[in-house]
Amino acid sequence: MRSRLDNNEAARAEGGVISGHTRTAADPADSVRLAKRVRDLPPSGIRAFFEAGSGKDVVSLGVGEPAFPMPEPVRKAVCESLARGETAYTSNAGMPELRGEIASYLRRGFGLDYEPGSELLVTVGSSEALDLALRSLLEPGDEVVVPSPGYVAYAPLIELAGGVAVEASGSAADGFKLTEAALGAAIGPRTRAILLNYPSNPTGAIMRAEDLMPIARLVQRHGLAVLSDEVYAELTYEGRHVSIASLPGMKERTVVVSGFSKAFAMTGWRIGYACGPRTLIAAMLKVHQYTAMCAPTTGQVAALASLRLGLEAKEAMREELARRRTFFVEGLRRIGLPCRMPEGAFYAFPSIAGTGLTSAEFARRLMEEGGVAAVPGSVFGEGGEGHIRCSYAASPEQLAEALRRMEQFLSRLREERKAETKQTERRPRGAAERAASGSAGGRPLVI
Ligand SMILES: Cc1ncc(COP(=O)(O)O)c(C=O)c1O
Repeated sequence: MRSRLDNNEAARAEGGVISGHTRTAADPADSVRLAKRVRDLPPSGIRAFFEAGSGKDVVSLGVGEPAFPMPEPVRKAVCESLARGETAYTSNAGMPELRGEIASYLRRGFGLDYEPGSELLVTVGSSEALDLALRSLLEPGDEVVVPSPGYVAYAPLIELAGGVAVEASGSAADGFKLTEAALGAAIGPRTRAILLNYPSNPTGAIMRAEDLMPIARLVQRHGLAVLSDEVYAELTYEGRHVSIASLPGMKERTVVVSGFSKAFAMTGWRIGYACGPRTLIAAMLKVHQYTAMCAPTTGQVAALASLRLGLEAKEAMREELARRRTFFVEGLRRIGLPCRMPEGAFYAFPSIAGTGLTSAEFARRLMEEGGVAAVPGSVFGEGGEGHIRCSYAASPEQLAEALRRMEQFLSRLREERKAETKQTERRPRGAAERAASGSAGGRPLVI
């Protein structure tokens, strides 16, 4: 649909008056002219979807947020900091103690070696780190290869930075890993960078060193930059996370983006970070200075206290998520939804292709008729169709209830299809129709 504010002519034709910067319109909300790139941006498919379900009796497996309490020592550190009145700006790049602690954490945990004074920047969540990196790297029209299915914010962030997102589709057969062939097919003359996200949202796939090697070689051959979103790095269940930046020749062309939202269950504190070559980090710091000034001070205090707490608290959460993963994925398989065992993050990505419904239809009906909110795979790009994303960071009780409701919903779908099939069989059919359908009739339901 054409916007009422597409141009002045349209506005005048519809009764609005434009003079200089002032416009009087019938609808006061119309008096602001939006930038086209923002107006054209679709709202997040996830948010749009969940707003429809709010206020209903719905078990939510939708939101990518671990509901674990903040450890007592972290709460105490935050209260003490506030009592000391520490509410002013910090250094633009983040508190030096926090940067130092992050650098040693990355060294110990992932073998990554960054100089905290020049190669590391604390940001407002990993979201801001991604935005800063893209804005610092891209010229208008530059292409960035993104995984599909992939996190919903990548394409919008690339477009806001003036770039173009190009999807490289992973397949369930490859365990949703990015292959050399898929990446090779997506690289063109305007490609400037690739975006990786392992462990993956929404598939839970991880990439081992042997999976990353051919990707790294291809990236080097084409002289590309890599944005590696490793916000789920700590949440792996089969082997440890490997960062592409730790492979030979990759540190100098990679920016590692991560944060405290997921593994530290600190989504609301808005603390993330970026590590990379010093020229790129300096450029990102420049943009950050003008847009955010610094990450939230109290959030940085909480992040520092969490790192100093050691790995124990985090490890307990990871083990609990591993238990929920097994329980939920086995449950999905039992009720008839094929699902790979995710190796990381906290999402299951079962196939719903056997129902004959699109992922959007399935998720809408599951929410409205079944009382379970899951995200349609199509919001994560073309590669996500035929799947839904379910977060198993929900409580064990919620997971059990969701499985019970999903089982009921699926059996109702089966009944519906049986009735459809019977009706089609009763209808006399022409030879052409029989030949075209090639089946007993009705839509397929193989679950
Ligand atoms: C893959 C991925 N990257 C980045 C983010 C943003 O996280 P943050 O809270 O650190 O901004 C999310 C949040 O869901 C995510 O799933």
